[in-house]
Amino acid sequence: MGAEVVVEGLTKSFGRQAIWRDVSLTLPPGEVSVLLGPSGTGKSVFLKSMIGLLKPERGKCTINGVDICSCSEHKLYEVRKLFGVLFQDGALFGSMNLYDNVAFPLREHTKKSESEIKRIVLEKMEMVGLLGAESKLPGEISGGMRKRAGLARALVLDPEIILCDEPDSGLDPVRTAYLSQLLIDLNAQIDATILIVTHNINVARTVPDNLGMLFRRELVMFGPREVLLTSDEPVVEQFLNGRRIGPIGMSEEKDTATMEAEQAARDAGHHDGSTNEDLRGVVPQMQPSPGLPPRQGDRRRKDRVMRILRSLPAPAQHGIIDSLSEADKQRYGLTRNPAGVRGRGGDDTQQFPGGNPSGQRIQGELNEESIARLPNSGWQSPPPRGGRFPDGGR
Ligand SMILES: Nc1ncnc2c1ncn2[C@@H]1O[C@H](COP(=O)(O)OP(=O)(O)O)[C@@H](O)[C@H]1O
Ligand SMILES: [Mg+2]
Repeated sequence: MGAEVVVEGLTKSFGRQAIWRDVSLTLPPGEVSVLLGPSGTGKSVFLKSMIGLLKPERGKCTINGVDICSCSEHKLYEVRKLFGVLFQDGALFGSMNLYDNVAFPLREHTKKSESEIKRIVLEKMEMVGLLGAESKLPGEISGGMRKRAGLARALVLDPEIILCDEPDSGLDPVRTAYLSQLLIDLNAQIDATILIVTHNINVARTVPDNLGMLFRRELVMFGPREVLLTSDEPVVEQFLNGRRIGPIGMSEEKDTATMEAEQAARDAGHHDGSTNEDLRGVVPQMQPSPGLPPRQGDRRRKDRVMRILRSLPAPAQHGIIDSLSEADKQRYGLTRNPAGVRGRGGDDTQQFPGGNPSGQRIQGELNEESIARLPNSGWQSPPPRGGRFPDGGR
């Protein structure tokens, strides 16, 4: 199982330029998380801070009990071996073929023999679908292949945590979908903790277990995907719908006067080019390819989210329950009571964790009363506007 990463109160600036402050979140072990944010909000700076390449002024980032922001260089070197990082452009050495690029960390950090290295390199290249391209130079292959080569290189030291910086950048939607599938498949195979930073809405909607968003130098939210996907927080809603109208502007946030002027223009009938589809809502999550084992992180996440379910906003609760399979509903004791025993209408009430006395399965949606009987622990309610979930979604 991948390592848990706990970020607490992380604050970073460059000189007088504040990048973000007081960022707290937890990457649950073996789960896939996505951190969204408009360009320039400090997503790459965040990833670099997580592996100790940049030093935040305040806060902690703890992995296996080691705070990488304050530990010794020696400890940092050790902890970094837990990470596999896919940098934005693949960060391959242009003069080395793919084989040597992928083998590089093994030759740098281990004393493995060349035959052992060959076994590992070919195994990882097969995992990312690049077998046969070992002798190609980075300049001879497509952007998508370069990313996959970067991913193979990130995998050779068997990372417990994989960080991906905009894996979709420069890729068309189809290649992006393939790469997303690859990350989900990898997670199913090695159960690593994965964090993807991106501004790609599709990736955010379909890939992760947990979703967060950086904006205005803060972490706006971080929690189970269903919370952001059903949120009516204006920043999150604008971003997930790709709208021009809203608090996010061309370069940074808009001032009130600009927002009012935009609203006036819209009221007067001006069309801003957005399709006006409402993309809010929980869509099915990408699953591992056929033939692969189910994701262990998915099972752990369901257990975790069901424990905190009742403390989540109502639309997120419904999103979560709607995405449970019949088997899941049985497992969590969300089963129908004998007719007329309890609840409005008498036959549509489920209970948790009270078992399944009638042996019948749930058919309708959970009603308010049955949700009220679900356990309520571990999640602090979000602040009314803007703020983040203080417990990082644990
Ligand atoms: N090493 C650095 N020194 C000074 N400023 C930096 C450095 N790295 C990034 N920045 C600044 O931090 C801000 C956030 O950058 P970045 O993390 O690359 O944004 P994103 O990845 O979200 O697009 C930018 O304004 C950028 O200019
Ligand atoms: Mg970046």
